[in-house]
Amino acid sequence: MKTWRLDTPRQTLVLAASDEGLPAVVYWAEALPEGEDLTAVAGVHAMNATGGGLDWIAPISVCPGGDAFLGHPGLSGPTDRIRWRWAPRPDWAETRETAIEEAFACAETGLSYRLKIEADPGTEVFAFSAELGNTGDARPVTWLAAPVLAMPATADLMTFSGRWCGEFGVTRTPWRPGILMTEGREGRTGHSAQPGAFALGAGAGEHAGRVWGLTLAWSGGHRMVAEELPTGQRQIQLGEIPRTRTLEPRTIDRTPVLYGTFSDRGLNGASQAFHTHLRRRVLRYAHPERPRPVHYNCWEAVYFDHDVEVLRDLADRAHDLSVERFVLDDGWFRGRDDATTSLGDWDVDPRKWPQGLWPLVDHVTNLGMSFGLWVEPEMVNAESALFRAHPDWILGPADQTLGRTQYVLDLSHPGVGRYVFEALDRLLSEYPVDYLKWDHNRPLPPGTGRSSRPLYDLLDRVRTAHPGVEIETCASGGGRIDFGILAHTQRMWLSDSNDALERARIQRGASYFFPPEITGSHVGPRTCHTSGRTLSMAFRAGVAGTRAMGIEADLRDLDRSEFDTLRAAVERFKARRGLLHTGRLHRLETSDTACLAEMHVATDGAAFLLFAMQLTTSGASHPAPLRLAGLGMDDMYRITLEGGEAPQILNRSPAGPLGAGGSVVLSGRALTSHGIRLPNAFPETLWTLEGVRL
Ligand code: DGJ
Repeated sequence: MKTWRLDTPRQTLVLAASDEGLPAVVYWAEALPEGEDLTAVAGVHAMNATGGGLDWIAPISVCPGGDAFLGHPGLSGPTDRIRWRWAPRPDWAETRETAIEEAFACAETGLSYRLKIEADPGTEVFAFSAELGNTGDARPVTWLAAPVLAMPATADLMTFSGRWCGEFGVTRTPWRPGILMTEGREGRTGHSAQPGAFALGAGAGEHAGRVWGLTLAWSGGHRMVAEELPTGQRQIQLGEIPRTRTLEPRTIDRTPVLYGTFSDRGLNGASQAFHTHLRRRVLRYAHPERPRPVHYNCWEAVYFDHDVEVLRDLADRAHDLSVERFVLDDGWFRGRDDATTSLGDWDVDPRKWPQGLWPLVDHVTNLGMSFGLWVEPEMVNAESALFRAHPDWILGPADQTLGRTQYVLDLSHPGVGRYVFEALDRLLSEYPVDYLKWDHNRPLPPGTGRSSRPLYDLLDRVRTAHPGVEIETCASGGGRIDFGILAHTQRMWLSDSNDALERARIQRGASYFFPPEITGSHVGPRTCHTSGRTLSMAFRAGVAGTRAMGIEADLRDLDRSEFDTLRAAVERFKARRGLLHTGRLHRLETSDTACLAEMHVATDGAAFLLFAMQLTTSGASHPAPLRLAGLGMDDMYRITLEGGEAPQILNRSPAGPLGAGGSVVLSGRALTSHGIRLPNAFPETLWTLEGVRL
């Protein structure tokens, strides 16, 4: 039996080759001692045959299948499982201290399977990927999972689902016999499901317990299969959504990279590993040394109604609020007066902009802000010069059901790639644009599932030609957010909901995978356009200030007090973002479901920020103390409460030192083990607590 071992400081992954040939994960958990006998680890994992079944119980290999495996296979054709027998190809193998590359060939089918696993000791994340090659005849392939992980007997599964304006809903369910499957069928990552999940050991929560996290770096359709077999064996498979294609002779099919991490410190430990990995290995900023800028986006202020003087006025007001980047949203290009026309015709509309974008661009840059621009390059409206010239450039039939009255362009068509790149290149060469909001407002037509790779190539081409430009991934809000797109973009538009109450929950859901600095969050209008809810400026600005802050309201509508509140919130955000955008995020557990709380602890532990969002009225008149996390137990912290005055009617006789602006010194132990009672709060308000280690 051959075994492999990869380590990070907190985890060990052991694989052993099964008799079928492919390796199987036989251990993925806390770090093992150096001298551990891996053959013994694999040996005690083996299962004895019982009555009523086959004479050999196949382990769940990295690509399970073959005639002894009765679960969901890791590779299949359109009608059946593919029958294979794998033999190692030692000539293709390579094992380094932090990576395994192994290849296997099947003489019967002519297929080859190349496995790659890389351990990142600096981030605690493993990267799994595979290539399927073909030396035989052309063969239809429908499903190829990224390397499959045999999972231990965990109690629960956590998955993520959503909709437009309601992304990143969290569902925790007991893991039970049979299959739990989630799918993104929109041809993009989609609002409906995230290509990722967490498996949780018994009793695991945010701060403690054993958690296995997985996320697929892919921006197209996806499927996840979490299965428990009658043998009790469990597996998680993640891959591109099944789509029958022909694997031609001498070609290969690559799986997207699957990232995985094990945490013995609960969900927060797993999320922190994903955040660190994104920060250090995936995201590539144009100017890494610059803090994430405060945005002003004009969408909900003017929509398609572009008037240069109004926009210059908004820019002045944004500047007065100390905004750093002004983003001109949809509506600036030829004929674009509403969402029914002009996508594809990427030249500036001379009716609205007789002197080009210059009168606004100059104004914005003279004010010291940078200029960002909205585009939706992968789309075309029937009502456009582009469609009239190239009706054959679309995905799917002409009589398909449209989405937002638009078609999707076929990016794999060389003419399309060239056209789109040249259009963007022209714009970026002409104007000093340092940021593109790159939108994608409809699902792909069914059955046209396309690879994300031409998109990634296009994004890379744009960034190579214009290295100073950063890109935001947007798809009707959060319809394309994943580790794949984030290798090519630097900000994500999490949701079209600027309703701070809904945003607080969406942001919490997204935080399981994504760190605050890339999570765009805007202060919307007083009455939210997508929910009709009216919220105070303090709450709207407070919630936006917990992520990558921006403003999207019509600034002409602000009264003096709203303006002052917002300006102060922007300044506070700027003072805090150094910590917020580099620290470790700890979601706090509250017994009070009306309150969502999280902490951001500086990586050196010297300071922290705590946000406690009172969403609705608490069940108890005095909710239990809030227990903090991530602190040194013996360290002493001075903590100060911010967030305005506590409402008098709920706090008639202030008893403790934590009135607004009040401070107290406590040990990490006291803050963590017992916690603190914040003043009673009205719904839709937010407390901020700042802590400094003494
Ligand atoms: C959808 C985006 O999510 C919005 O923020 C806005 O940019 C519109 N598209 C513009 O059409």
